[in-house]
Amino acid sequence: MSTVVAVDGPSGSGKSSVSRQVARRLGLAYLDTGAMYRAATWWCLDQGVPLTDHRAVADAVRDLPLAMGLDPEGPTVVVDGRDVGVAIRTTEISSHVSAVATNLDARTELGRRQRAVIDAERDGGWSDGRGVVAEGRDITTVVAPDADVRVLLTASQDARLARRARELHGTDDAAAISATHDQVVRRDADDSTVVQFHVAADGVVTVDSSELDLEQTVDAVLRVVEQSV
Ligand code: C5P
Repeated sequence: MSTVVAVDGPSGSGKSSVSRQVARRLGLAYLDTGAMYRAATWWCLDQGVPLTDHRAVADAVRDLPLAMGLDPEGPTVVVDGRDVGVAIRTTEISSHVSAVATNLDARTELGRRQRAVIDAERDGGWSDGRGVVAEGRDITTVVAPDADVRVLLTASQDARLARRARELHGTDDAAAISATHDQVVRRDADDSTVVQFHVAADGVVTVDSSELDLEQTVDAVLRVVEQSV
């Protein structure tokens, strides 16, 4: 039997680390859909596609030569034969990614590919049919509303800012928090114009990680999985 777990949430909610751990613990594939938007952004910049040109971005994303590695022990992102796992995490990509994420044609194309990966993991794929944990902003609502388990991972804005600041700057002092603001608050505000990921849709279970560490959050999500399948 296969299990599809969909996890959505805002920046800094911990959804990537948590989803990856959940996939490891359950022996499932891991799909980071945010990495797909980042890879698309990297590709547009690499190809000199102006991010303000809606049509050009949509065309570039349609032809994006992207391969996602789904092993939760070491997920990979390869574009045109190049491993871009590190290149897609720069501040430059983070500050431009909403331009691709708010392009509705690009969303349709990436959502179609995400759906194809999820369907492949139900029948075979990397997981041999065990299933997949897919995380992002619209997985519980648009890409896989039929997932067996649907979780919205939230945390207070303060907790999310502090987490990202520690990740990026090694500290959550006032200067680090202020330097992180654009990456968390502005990006989520931009993304919210096309996808809703702050309030759980019908049937989606909310897990609030504000007061939990990584392990406790993983356990909380695993409990939701146990109760749902
Ligand atoms: O999760 P991460 O921060 O890597 O996502 C990068 C960006 O990709 C988000 O800020 C958002 O613009 C976009 N995204 C999206 N829909 C998803 C996953 C990510 O729009 N399902």
